[in-house]
Amino acid sequence: MYPKNLISITDFSKDDYLKIMKLAAEFEKEPNQDLLKGKVVASLFFEPSTRTRLSFETAVTRLGGKIIGFTDSSSSSVTKGETLHDTIRMVSNYADMIVMRHPLEGSARYASQISGVPVINAGDGANQHPTQTLLDMYSITKTQGSLDNINIFLVGDLKYGRTVHSLLQALSVFENPIFNFVAPPELAMPTEYKRFLDRKGIRYFEHTEFNDIISEADIIYMTRVQKERFNDPIEYEKVKNIYILKNSMLENTKPTMKILHPLPRVNEIHSDVDSNPKAYYFTQALNGMYTREAIISHIMGLK
Ligand code: CP
Repeated sequence: MYPKNLISITDFSKDDYLKIMKLAAEFEKEPNQDLLKGKVVASLFFEPSTRTRLSFETAVTRLGGKIIGFTDSSSSSVTKGETLHDTIRMVSNYADMIVMRHPLEGSARYASQISGVPVINAGDGANQHPTQTLLDMYSITKTQGSLDNINIFLVGDLKYGRTVHSLLQALSVFENPIFNFVAPPELAMPTEYKRFLDRKGIRYFEHTEFNDIISEADIIYMTRVQKERFNDPIEYEKVKNIYILKNSMLENTKPTMKILHPLPRVNEIHSDVDSNPKAYYFTQALNGMYTREAIISHIMGLK
């Protein structure tokens, strides 16, 4: 049995994660495979995106399928008052799979309950971004050789940053992870995720600074402060540049350490880091295309 949807990273088992890692490696070797020939994928982006949308659309194209959809809900009948319910009912009549990004937490799960075809969550508000997590896991596997025994620093907006929520849950099924959360109190990792780790007996540490403690890191995962989720612009201004990773800070880090970022970045990684071999975020984004080919193939039962 293949999983029908990917809404939360916890919809996939450890076996699913490992299968995706294996498939992504196969697609990296041979990206063009006509497995989706004759199939249509709907790409519904109610929120802006560069990487997720374009890498999904490229993945579908490289698999021989066709893409329909919109990049901005203002060009859809949502502007006339059509509900998400009716939009999904219509689109699931036209397409064989739906990839959806939406600002509301829970919207992707709701869409999956209405849709007659598989739904992939491409980000729902501050909740989950499971396909980002799978490409993050593929990037960790490629650079560290394993998903076991990873000491990871999650830095920045751990409250609204949906990618860190999914990543924490996924890494928790592997051996001996250590999480270091670096955030100001107002952007701290939500309690529900810390309780989740407590229940599993997984170690985590909370910090407000990270300059002097990153020598043990296998992965430094930087995140953008999510301006669009703040109700009060003054609160955003207070924290927007709270952490800026600079090249000079990397001297005593492990030679194998890699810096990940889901991107887009604003100021949180200085451009002087880009030429450091430890900077991996642009390759990470490329890995997204292979990983999304793997996710589509897995859900559609093509491999
Ligand atoms: N990482 C990510 O989701 O980027 P986009 O918002 O550009 O899709």
